Amino acid sequence: MTETKKNPVKSIALLCSGGDSPGMNCAIRAVVRTALGDGLKVYGITKGYSGLLEGNFIEMNASSVGNIIQHGGTILQTSRCPEFHQEETRKEAFHILKRKNIDALIVIGGNGSYNGAYSLHNEHGFPVIGIPGTIDNDIEGTDYTVGFDTAVQTAVDAVDKIRDTAHSHARTFIVEVMGRKSPAIALHVGVCTGAENIVFPSDSLNVEQIASDIQRGIKRGKSSSIIICAEGEEPGLSYKIQSELKAQSGLDAHVCILGHIQRGGNPSAIDRFLASRMGFVAVKALLAGEQAVATAYVKGEVVTIPLENSLGKKTEYLPHFVELARSLSI
Ligand code: F6P
Repeated sequence: MTETKKNPVKSIALLCSGGDSPGMNCAIRAVVRTALGDGLKVYGITKGYSGLLEGNFIEMNASSVGNIIQHGGTILQTSRCPEFHQEETRKEAFHILKRKNIDALIVIGGNGSYNGAYSLHNEHGFPVIGIPGTIDNDIEGTDYTVGFDTAVQTAVDAVDKIRDTAHSHARTFIVEVMGRKSPAIALHVGVCTGAENIVFPSDSLNVEQIASDIQRGIKRGKSSSIIICAEGEEPGLSYKIQSELKAQSGLDAHVCILGHIQRGGNPSAIDRFLASRMGFVAVKALLAGEQAVATAYVKGEVVTIPLENSLGKKTEYLPHFVELARSLSI
């Protein structure tokens, strides 16, 4: 159940945490302008939870978020803050927020960031609200996260370019995309580029299958093959596939690791729209007395859901999409 409280919120702070994602600036802009429109004071905290602990608060006005909607990254900057896993650190953060007279905190980020916010709320009753910002699209409870659409488009553009040269030289390329344990980027990029095989993070590596997919294509006259590989915990799995393909089947393949290029760039219209809606809904939810919730995109609507329903990671891919990818790549 969504928790609500009657306390009027007068002053809010917001921060970005974890890996940046295109569209975070649109969410910041939406939060700041909605809050100002409702008569609230808004503080941006720079560099995520680390910045909170250092007391990096900047009062924001309508102009602070002018001309940022089109830019990737985050004007507030972000950080990964392992210290925030400790209860003592969160207690310190709570006291800093109280001293600054902040009534609620909005956190734009992924699972790790949500877990920090949820603990802060649980331990100190501090109102928090999450906005899902990660290219990985791996947060439970929301169909999409801010930045995913742009990251997929960036990777698709890159693979299209690789396909040009792969075709010209009749080569196989293994293209490694981001996403840690999340299959989402790999799946979408694989389907959208007509990849011959997609290697998901949860799969045990089946090089024989990859080789047979490449050989089937060659027999049918295909002059290039693209294998999309999700990076998993560490980038570099594609090099292992490359050497095993050679050792087991004598097949040559080139490797291209797309890396952080997928996190940058101007947000797509879909990400801008989603982030703008989520920033707006987040502030309205706080004003309605909701706390410990997250904004979520569910069946075309932006809603709030209990933050605890969003703490988990989506790591499974939908079997019908995998079937789609396999059926279309023959
Ligand atoms: O933010 C998500 C993500 O880009 C993952 O896709 C990737 O595995 C990871 O972050 C990389 O993190 P870092 O930039 O800290 O190396």
